[in-house]
Amino acid sequence: MTDRYAVIGNPIEQSKSPLIHNAFAQVTGQDMAYTKLLGPLGGFAASVDAFRAAGGRGMNVTAPFKLDAFAYASDLAPSAQMAGAVNAMKFEGGKVYAENFDGVGLVRDVVHNLACPLKGRRVLVLGAGGATRGALLPLLAQGPAELVIVNRNLAKAQALLELARQHPGAAVPVRALNYADLNGDAFDVVFNATSASLTAQDLPIPTSVFAHGCLAYDLTYGKGLTPFLQRARQAGVTRLADGVGMLAEQAAEAFAWWRGVRPDTREVIVCLTVPLV
Ligand code: ATR
Repeated sequence: MTDRYAVIGNPIEQSKSPLIHNAFAQVTGQDMAYTKLLGPLGGFAASVDAFRAAGGRGMNVTAPFKLDAFAYASDLAPSAQMAGAVNAMKFEGGKVYAENFDGVGLVRDVVHNLACPLKGRRVLVLGAGGATRGALLPLLAQGPAELVIVNRNLAKAQALLELARQHPGAAVPVRALNYADLNGDAFDVVFNATSASLTAQDLPIPTSVFAHGCLAYDLTYGKGLTPFLQRARQAGVTRLADGVGMLAEQAAEAFAWWRGVRPDTREVIVCLTVPLV
């Protein structure tokens, strides 16, 4: 029998997950169907209950339900606990196993697809919201020389600092700064994990943050040359990336977790790439 999976969100029309997972299923020969599910606001649990009752095997979770999924899960993986949010669920008997693959997807894209090792590198992360929280441990696990988190609201960056210090990888020096404190420091990898690119907002970063040969990576997907990437390019950065690879890699992690086979992401990344212009 064909196994059923879905992505739940509201809105959901924009989701690329069905395209990605159905492509993965085809190339790996898995007998599964993956669809979109519009969850009514306030009706997350009832929607997931109904999907499970109809034989659903697993789900991806997108906005605004990642915290609802966190509450719904019976078994939270450390990645979900650390991120404080869930983006993938697996249903087995009465159990709801929950993961968050965004951070590991990001790291795999950077290290494997973009061939940019993070070990020993100076890493700057802009933003201290959910995206940064999810990426924190996988980034630290790579052993960068240092990790700096910059946020408008410094208290939020400091809270992440505390979280980082309680976990493995605690040997990596981690600092929390305001944008105004950035002058002078240069970094090998600069991640934009703010939501500013969604609304084409610029960030007050000095060009000096981009070290020679730096990778500038915007976690947002499909917005072309965002103000952040534009700024990096103006500063002479030639290695620019958006979140398309992260999107594909977090999906591949979920697919492997559900099906026991890891799909190659190259074709999906090529198909979904929006030029950075
Ligand atoms: P997400 O889950 O996408 O990370 P979030 O938790 O709402 O979303 O976090 C959004 C992040 O983007 C925050 O770090 C926010 O900064 P503040 O905490 O200071 O509000 C950051 N952000 C959004 N718009 C920004 C802008 N125009 N300039 C700087 N930071 C911005």
